[in-house]
Amino acid sequence: MALTRTQVGIIGSGPAGLLLSHLLHREGIESVILERRSRSYVEGRIRAGVLEQGTADLLREVGVAERMEREGLPHAGINLAFSERLERIDMAAHTGGKTVLIYGQTKVTRDLIRARLDAGAPLLFETPVVGIEGYLDAKPRLIYEQNGQRHELRCDFVAGCDGYHGIARRSVDPARLHTFEKTYPFGWLGLLADVPPAAEELIYVNHARGFALCSMRSPTRSRYYIQCDADDDVARWTDEAFWDELRRRLPPRVAEAVVTGPRLEMSIAPLRSFVAEPMRFGRLFLAGDAAHIVPPTGAKGLNLAASDVHYLARALAAHYREGRTDLLDRYSETALRRVWKAIRFSWWFTSVLHKFTDDPIDHRLQIAELDYITGSNAGRTMVAENYVGLPLEPFD
Ligand code: APR
Ligand code: PHB
Repeated sequence: MALTRTQVGIIGSGPAGLLLSHLLHREGIESVILERRSRSYVEGRIRAGVLEQGTADLLREVGVAERMEREGLPHAGINLAFSERLERIDMAAHTGGKTVLIYGQTKVTRDLIRARLDAGAPLLFETPVVGIEGYLDAKPRLIYEQNGQRHELRCDFVAGCDGYHGIARRSVDPARLHTFEKTYPFGWLGLLADVPPAAEELIYVNHARGFALCSMRSPTRSRYYIQCDADDDVARWTDEAFWDELRRRLPPRVAEAVVTGPRLEMSIAPLRSFVAEPMRFGRLFLAGDAAHIVPPTGAKGLNLAASDVHYLARALAAHYREGRTDLLDRYSETALRRVWKAIRFSWWFTSVLHKFTDDPIDHRLQIAELDYITGSNAGRTMVAENYVGLPLEPFD
């Protein structure tokens, strides 16, 4: 039977929509998630895997942290490699003990979906939203399709958690929307393999041939990336060519420690910064990738989705509990302050690590900047406090 009425209609079952539904459930607020893809498609997407402490805490708060506590790997530092040097940034030492947790977004999504379905709460797959109506007056309606039939879901509020390509932002009158965009002329070619990681912590590499990153999902599963042209084609890359190019960009000791193996997955991710302002239009609220995209350098995408829905859930809770509208009014500006700072950090980190031109002065300037940052207490603190995640603002 089709669902016709709820308090909060959520479009999209990525991390933003799922986490929001759990936060609302804890406050006794009903929601329905409508997701256009199948469950197996959503659960199979390979994404980044670094959780800021605040994001991990949110998963704990909603009681979906059991597997994360068991399998997540706490990391207190990251490494920067440049000019044959390997510099560790001790994040914990520079942030009063904060760390990140290595735990794949794929697992986060699966954990959140299972907990939602186990609770018997509505999460519908293969139900694309094709229209959002009435959100500027008091009666928003989501028009969605299910098994070829059209249905209408009446809501008090709509949360557009439908990613960059979703319908929510596109439904807004362009005259009310300010967008900011930067597309980088390169992408990341990523390879996932069941081999032990080359190092205990992540290594971000600036090399004259281009950026590289050594990351991981577990002690037996590694994720590596190399910078490639934006129009490169995965079909051009054999596993062997990938491993050879990766090792050329790593400091010799790290290159020797790389264990190679057949790909489980290989794909190219584009690099882009994008922000849409504001994040609220009447009773329609945008959260996560629907409102902003960061380049993956720094792994902020999922973490920003988490901070957005943290603020949004609080604003909705204050509305239902106390009839307040002030937090709903402040949602956009509050979320955007944190978004812009993460956009800045990811842009800066991208700028110092990637090859932009063949002009040697650009590379020398990057090396000087990395030398300065790693040689300065202030510089190390800047990297550390951004990487572990800037604090959430008080919002109540
Ligand atoms: N109707 C229903 N669902 C839709 C529609 C639609 N019209 N359009 C898009 N969706 C769904 C997509 O299929 C997707 O599952 O919305 C979901 C959006 O999820 P994400 O793209 O994961 O976005 P978000 O939840 O904001 O997560 C942000 O995840 O995408 C990564 O890099 C991103 O790490 C970041 C984080
Ligand atoms: C990943 O493991 O996929 C990853 C890690 C760090 C990043 C980006 C991606 O900055």
